[in-house]
Order: sequence, then C-alpha cells, then structure tokens
Amino acid sequence: MRIILLGAPGAGKGTQAQFLMGKFGIPQISTGDMLRAAIKAGTELGLQAKQVMDEGKLVSDELIIGLVKERIAQDDCANGFLLDGFPRTIPQADAMKEHNIAIDHVIEFDVDDEVIVERMSGRRVHPASGRVYHVKYNPPQQEGKDDQTGEELVIRDDDREDTVRKRLNVYHEQTEPLVSYYQKEAEAGNCQFHKVDGTKPVEQVSQELAELLD
Ligand code: AP5
Ligand code: ZN
Repeated sequence: MRIILLGAPGAGKGTQAQFLMGKFGIPQISTGDMLRAAIKAGTELGLQAKQVMDEGKLVSDELIIGLVKERIAQDDCANGFLLDGFPRTIPQADAMKEHNIAIDHVIEFDVDDEVIVERMSGRRVHPASGRVYHVKYNPPQQEGKDDQTGEELVIRDDDREDTVRKRLNVYHEQTEPLVSYYQKEAEAGNCQFHKVDGTKPVEQVSQELAELLD
C-alpha cells in the first residue's frame, strides 16, 4: 500500500505514520526526519537544509525529489510506503507522476491553525525513531523519555511559535493546492482521496484511518 499523508505542520502526520507503520508493515518516509538526520550528521545536504528549515521555508524541490526517489528505490519499499511530508509542492507531485510512482491513498488531515500553534508548543520528539509525543495529549510513560529506549526527548528547532506561524503560511501557499490536485487524481481513478478530522484524539484518528484503509 502506497500512502501520502497530507496536512499542515503539526496536523499529526508523524504520529499516525507510526501507527500505520505498525499496522501495515510499511516504512515511513519522512522527508523532515531525513533532513534532520542529515543536519545532525553534518552532511552537505544537512548544511544546505539547516537554515532554510530554521526559517520555516521549504528546501528546494530538486534536492527533495532526489532524496525521495533514492529512498523509494530501496528494498523495504517494495510493498509500499508512507510518505510523510512529501510531496509538498505541485512540482514534487508532478515528479512522482513523471517517475511512474503510483499512489493508492492520499489522506488529508484537517486541523485549524490555532489548534496547531497550541499543539506544537507541547511537542517532544525522539529523533532516532521518529516517535512523537505531546506533554498533554500524548505523554510518554516517563517524563522527557522515549517509551521504548528511555532516551531523552527533544524539542524541535522549528517549533518556536513564530517559526510555526511561518510554516503554516508556507503550507497554505505551497502545499494546500495539493488537496485539489489529488482530489482530481482521485476523480480520474488514479488514487483514493480521504479527509480526516485531525482534531479528534490520537486513538480516534488512528481508528478512523484503520477503517478507511482496511
Ligand atoms: P516536517 O518534519 O515534515 O514537518 P511538518 O510537515 O511541518 O510537520 P510536523 O512534523 O511538524 O507535524 P506532523 O504532522 O508530523 O505532526 P506530529 O505527528 O508531529 O518538515 C520540517 C521542515 O523540513 C519543513 O519546514 C521544510 O523546511 C523541510 N521539508 C520537509 N519535507 C519537505 C519537502 N517535501 N519539500 C521541501 N521541504 C521539506 O504532531 C504534532 C504534535 O501534535 C505532537 O506533539 C503530537 O503528539 C500531537 N498530536 C498529534 N496528533 C494529535 C491529536 N489527534 N490530538 C492531539 N495532539 C496530537
Ligand atoms: Zn512530522
């Protein structure tokens, strides 16, 4: 199953990707996580991405498309994958088509901007695994520690309120047009399009996704 998770920053893509990975046994491809790993490793890609990400802007299409193409070609993606944070622009979606990468389901997470700003202030992440927590809505078993490894949780550099607001603007301008793009793709029979209410509790959203995709 090949799935695109579409939605604003903080809409819950990463959270539900963790659930869907376990349920369907397909890998999560989070372009954001890949870029953060590159920054941490100090690679050329990381150096290029760091400033752009801290400003809440998008990394160039060319760079991201190359990264995703390479990742999808790996063996563990043969039975499907979860795209989390890609595509994020019309040229990125067009590139998928050009490379004949078919998609079965596109899921849009619908969440209001103000809910998102509040959510991001409480987000904590475990960078090595991509697991995501929230101090109030999805707390770890032990404060500040990852459930599975016990390692420290961290606050993402781009979760400051002013950066979150910039990322939301970028989302509305550059990514939201993909909603009608994929609705048209669905009308043409090329994929299925689903919209979920991302403001419901985490478990309810997971349940809804399980029903949609089963
Ligand atoms: P990326 O890492 O993709 O960030 P994003 O899209 O902004 O999304 P987030 O990871 O912030 O949110 P999410 O939807 O995964 O929400 P989460 O589950 O964590 O990208 C970062 C940057 O990298 C970009 O700004 C850009 O610079 C660059 N980049 C990445 N991809 C790119 C691309 N394709 N092209 C160009 N540039 C690219 O949840 C958020 C919080 O809410 C958590 O605390 C969670 O616990 C909580 N939560 C989740 N669900 C619920 C719920 N139902 N109820 C209550 N709380 C919830
Ligand atoms: Zn994420």
